[in-house]
Amino acid sequence: KQVQAKQDYDVMAQAAVFYQQQLKQHANSEQVIDYLKSRGLTGETVKQFQIGYAPSEWDGLMKSLGQSKQSAHQLRDLGMVIEKETTKSLYDRFRDRVMFPILDRRGKCIAFGGRIIGDGTPKYLNSPETRIYSKGRELYGLYQARQANRGLERLLVVEGYMDVVALFQAGVTYAVASLGTSTTTEQIKLMLRSTSEIVCCYDGDKAGRKAAWRTLENALPSLVDGIQIRFVFLPDGEDPDTYVKQYGKEAFEAQIAQAKDMVSFFYEHLYDEIGQTEGEFARSKLSQLAQPLLEQMPDSEYKNAIADTLSVKLKRKIDVKSVDRVTQAKN
Ligand code: GTP
Ligand code: MN
Ligand code: MN
Ligand code: MN
Ligand code: MN
Repeated sequence: KQVQAKQDYDVMAQAAVFYQQQLKQHANSEQVIDYLKSRGLTGETVKQFQIGYAPSEWDGLMKSLGQSKQSAHQLRDLGMVIEKETTKSLYDRFRDRVMFPILDRRGKCIAFGGRIIGDGTPKYLNSPETRIYSKGRELYGLYQARQANRGLERLLVVEGYMDVVALFQAGVTYAVASLGTSTTTEQIKLMLRSTSEIVCCYDGDKAGRKAAWRTLENALPSLVDGIQIRFVFLPDGEDPDTYVKQYGKEAFEAQIAQAKDMVSFFYEHLYDEIGQTEGEFARSKLSQLAQPLLEQMPDSEYKNAIADTLSVKLKRKIDVKSVDRVTQAKN
């Protein structure tokens, strides 16, 4: 099993090298490099993130790394090539895309994200789950963030590959992307192994707000004392990549400094859902929505703050102790 894993890491590393070579050697090289330049990336950043190019041919990777039957099947199991159902022939999953290797926290390549060059769908194509890649447990950019910083005062969670890379290039070297629409409990725990503060910075659109709330929900069980989570909402239409390019590192970090604290976002979101802040209906709805969330929280200042605020808003006492008993009974 360990031999298998080592071979898998080797093949993924070879694939990453192959894509990086293609970025330099392929007939489309100039056009792809122009695209990366148009996205503002420097050669140094491209190297740091091992960004590459998946050639436009159907068998580019197959020809290079899948010549024996065994290696071809391994590529298939790792999600790099796809088997045609009818003929069982194998073809490259990633074609004519900018390739972002996804590294685990030790720096081993375990998967890829591939972006289309220019417009088209799907914009991103990602590796499927494999025996070495479980997307809810990995964070894009975590390896680079840990390499670039001695200790991580905070980690910033963003939505996309390009956000991580553009921020890094701008000097914000502590961003990671969650590789899905929202951040999972496993990813939150993974971050909290390297830092005690998480700042969530999703796109300034409706999907971004929704993802931020899901992240908050998933973080609740991890919010012990000493841990901080805050939320930044960029102007609608902006993402960290576009924002840092247009306004620069200082402006971006000023946004982070003004991030919303967890308790404010908590009540803002719930009142948004309820649609009104005054009256008996709002109070009963608030109680109904907030109590189950409170129950997921360990004893902490956050929990006390949420409970105190709730008690003010509901105009009655909230018994946090009894909430804890419910939590304990469930565990
Ligand atoms: P750019 O246009 O390159 O700046 O990408 P973006 O990261 O800003 O894209 P967007 O905000 O639309 O999406 C954020 C993240 O969601 C991406 O980085 C991907 O991880 C993922 N994503 C976006 N589009 C797709 C898609 O078509 N398929 C899949 N599977 N994931 C996607
Ligand atoms: Mn978006
Ligand atoms: Mn985006
Ligand atoms: Mn973007
Ligand atoms: Mn909701």
